[in-house]
Amino acid sequence: MEKTNILLSGREMPRSWYNLAADLPNPLRPPLTADGTPITPETMAPIFPMNLIEQEVSSERWIEIPEPVLAILMRWRPTPLRRAVALEKHLNTPARIYYKDESLSPPGSHKPNTAVAQAWYNKEFGIKKLTTETGAGQWGSALAYACGLIGIECKVYMVRISFEQKPFRKVLMRIWGADCIPSPSEASKTGREILKKMPDTPGSLGIAISEAIEEATGDESGRTRYALGSVLNHVMLHQTVIGLETRKQLKNAGVGLPHVVIGCAGGGSNFAGLSFPFIAEKIDGADITIIPVEPTACPTLTRGRFAYDYGDVAKTTPLLPMHSLGHTFVPPGIHAGGLRYHGMAPLVSQAAVDGLLEPMSLDQLECYRAALTWAQTEGSIPAPETTHAIAAAIREAEKAREEGKDKSIVFCYSGHGLLDLSAYEAYLDGKLVDSTLPEERLQESISELDGNPGVD
Ligand SMILES: Cc1ncc(COP(=O)(O)O)c(C=O)c1O
Repeated sequence: MEKTNILLSGREMPRSWYNLAADLPNPLRPPLTADGTPITPETMAPIFPMNLIEQEVSSERWIEIPEPVLAILMRWRPTPLRRAVALEKHLNTPARIYYKDESLSPPGSHKPNTAVAQAWYNKEFGIKKLTTETGAGQWGSALAYACGLIGIECKVYMVRISFEQKPFRKVLMRIWGADCIPSPSEASKTGREILKKMPDTPGSLGIAISEAIEEATGDESGRTRYALGSVLNHVMLHQTVIGLETRKQLKNAGVGLPHVVIGCAGGGSNFAGLSFPFIAEKIDGADITIIPVEPTACPTLTRGRFAYDYGDVAKTTPLLPMHSLGHTFVPPGIHAGGLRYHGMAPLVSQAAVDGLLEPMSLDQLECYRAALTWAQTEGSIPAPETTHAIAAAIREAEKAREEGKDKSIVFCYSGHGLLDLSAYEAYLDGKLVDSTLPEERLQESISELDGNPGVD
């Protein structure tokens, strides 16, 4: 019988995070202020604590994981690397398909890997409260969980459409002691202005980020900061435990380096977490195909422009060098809420510019078909975001069959979908449609990048 679970002991858990910024062929460009000057750590200080800002700008290759953070991560880590033998058999492919199971954390996704670290560093810096945004609720519930354990207040602005459609994630947040309100809200100036102009708006991540930052920077006691669940360098860093463990597990299983590495990409963090240690191998000469997968409804890497853009609607964040669809872009309402972000992590964007990645975009119908094949072979029910990685892995396994090649494919199983059953119901009832972004809308949206500082 094939071994399907490849486990690591607690002693084998990585003790440091890996920073890709140390090894990229071309250095990361700095974030800029609105007038185009490089930002200093002090300008970010009202938003983030200085210990995380130091990580944000660091080019050290390895950064040690503090013991108290390790102790919490080890409640569910190292996570299993599993082999999808039943799917391989169903596809009749010579490829071996491995997946890193990040759905086992208490909130059900990879997001607590950074939530725990961010809550801990904020507490160390004397911060009493964190504010954040959330789309479908995975990140909000992860931060609520981390803040609950670490003893710090948490306020979550949840994109209104998800707040209404996905009630159970907000119950999770309340159970862990966080306050969760729909965005746009009357609680912020940005929210009030948007509600006046568009009382029925479904909301967006860009709006919710603006509201959360406004609350953090408006606290005159100076004891509130903002936390972001993706995109930023320190978030990518915290997620690299995924890839470091996977690299060890594949080695222990005698596979060595994989031929193909896949992750779905919203802001880029689970993809980065799995792939960065393998990108390091690729920079060193290994032949690995590395694929970030995004929805055709929000095709940031495949059809967006690499430029400087803001991370939110109200332009409260610095300008970041990233692939973007424009900071006011509101994507079609696909159920993979975590993949509906207009930008991409600067580290992932730079790796794409450097030719290290082969981005792919998939339509949601193909992804739900793949999810059903998965559920009926492997048995588990993936998050709508994760279905994109599964669909891409199936494509690659079918390609291996056509080429007659025994490839090893590894992807990140970023979360479970047990609180996303309304999305599955809509699919099963035939209510989901192809949501590819029309070219005209894309051009209109990315044309707003024209006025921003260039990337030469
Ligand atoms: C389960 C799951 N996978 C993937 C993502 C996409 O985010 P990222 O690209 O930061 O990993 C999300 C975001 O909410 C998510 O909840």
